[in-house]
Amino acid sequence: MATGKWSLFADRFEARKPASEMTKLDAILDFFAFITISIGYIIQSIFYTIFGWPEKDLNGELCVITGGGGGLGRLLAMRLVRLGVKVILWDISQQGLDESKKIVDSMGGWCRSQIVDISKRQEVYKAAEDIKNQYGNVTLLINNAGVLSGRALLDTPDHLIERSFNVNVIAHFWTVKAFLPTMIEKDHGHIVTIASMAGHVGIAKLIDYCSTKFAAVGFDEALRLELEVMGIKNIHTSVICPYFIQATGMFDDVNSRWVNTLSSNDVADRIIEAVRKNEKMALIPWYFNIMLILKTIFPWGCTSGFLRRLVPDATPQHLLTTPVSTPSITKQEEMQFMNNNNHHVLNNNNNNNDKETTLIKRMAATIEGERVL
Ligand SMILES: NC(=O)c1ccc[n+]([C@@H]2O[C@H](COP(=O)([O-])OP(=O)(O)OC[C@H]3O[C@@H](n4cnc5c(N)ncnc54)[C@H](O)[C@@H]3O)[C@@H](O)[C@H]2O)c1
Ligand SMILES: *[C@@H]1O[C@H](CO)[C@@H](O)[C@H](O)[C@H]1NC(C)=O
Repeated sequence: MATGKWSLFADRFEARKPASEMTKLDAILDFFAFITISIGYIIQSIFYTIFGWPEKDLNGELCVITGGGGGLGRLLAMRLVRLGVKVILWDISQQGLDESKKIVDSMGGWCRSQIVDISKRQEVYKAAEDIKNQYGNVTLLINNAGVLSGRALLDTPDHLIERSFNVNVIAHFWTVKAFLPTMIEKDHGHIVTIASMAGHVGIAKLIDYCSTKFAAVGFDEALRLELEVMGIKNIHTSVICPYFIQATGMFDDVNSRWVNTLSSNDVADRIIEAVRKNEKMALIPWYFNIMLILKTIFPWGCTSGFLRRLVPDATPQHLLTTPVSTPSITKQEEMQFMNNNNHHVLNNNNNNNDKETTLIKRMAATIEGERVL
């Protein structure tokens, strides 16, 4: 038997007979058990859909929100403290954190903030340890921080691709590893993954973003199943997949047709609802559920035609005119990248619309040793 901390969790896996050891009767009973339980869940779901899903009380929970210094994270904090949740905000932006904390404090809520770059594993573990020592055990984790490069693959510098993965999905491993153990010990907790509709459909110029969001959707589902297999019933996971949101800064000026971009307040309200109802997956707006079914049925040409009309250009215009901040690379690299960007392109306003020169300049604007084409 393995020793050490982690054997504790591996030992919890439910004993399910391998197929080779099952008698015919076992197999038949197992099958009918599955059908009966499934019917039970369907009836429960219909009942609650008609009469309303019960909403759990969040009063007294201790919550960490990554990316709490901006957009959605801040709006979630404002709603959670109103429900009696103690909120700890993590972000890389001191200014963002200060603003968030000021707002939440003014509402009379309990709020702390910490500078944490979640793409750095050691910073996450350290901050989690500090929280445990100072404030207690986290029972609600909202993996919300996310970044975006928003360029064609061959125009995206390597470090931005790595940054997308580090922040949008790999960080989820560190935060969950930091907070799940005490949730398991207390048999109480909730882990929320803020993914995106881009975790279900691919969009041009968002290849790195889409891949990280698909990964985040998979992370949530696999984690949920693993907890269930371990027999842990009171730790819930939810994945939230919104379409483009207005006024958070990320996709503000994205070019979208047919489906209106969402109000950030509506999305925040919907996320709180999903958490209180222990929803497994919330697609926002709801009718994307139907569109996803259609996607699996219709020929690719229909899906492609739809997506191309829906999002003619996914690059938020502000990304083309301001240098990208790159917290997860070294300061030196960052300065170099910014300087290059300031002198060269990514600035489509400088009367230079010659595509070829733009591309060459973009290549020059990347860090040495990185491959653009
Ligand atoms: N805005 C949209 O249209 C939209 C749509 C679907 C999903 N989402 C997702 O919702 C989440 C929140 O997005 P938002 O719109 O509020 O974006 P935002 O850019 O306003 O906020 C993201 C926050 O994360 C912080 N952050 C970035 N890198 C970090 C790091 N390494 N460590 C700690 N914090 C870091 C930023 O400083 C910022 O405060 C993201 O995961 C995003 O992908 C956004
Ligand atoms: C946090 O959880 C640990 C382990 O379950 C427990 O020993 C400790 O007392 C808890 N801390 C608080 C503040 O509840």
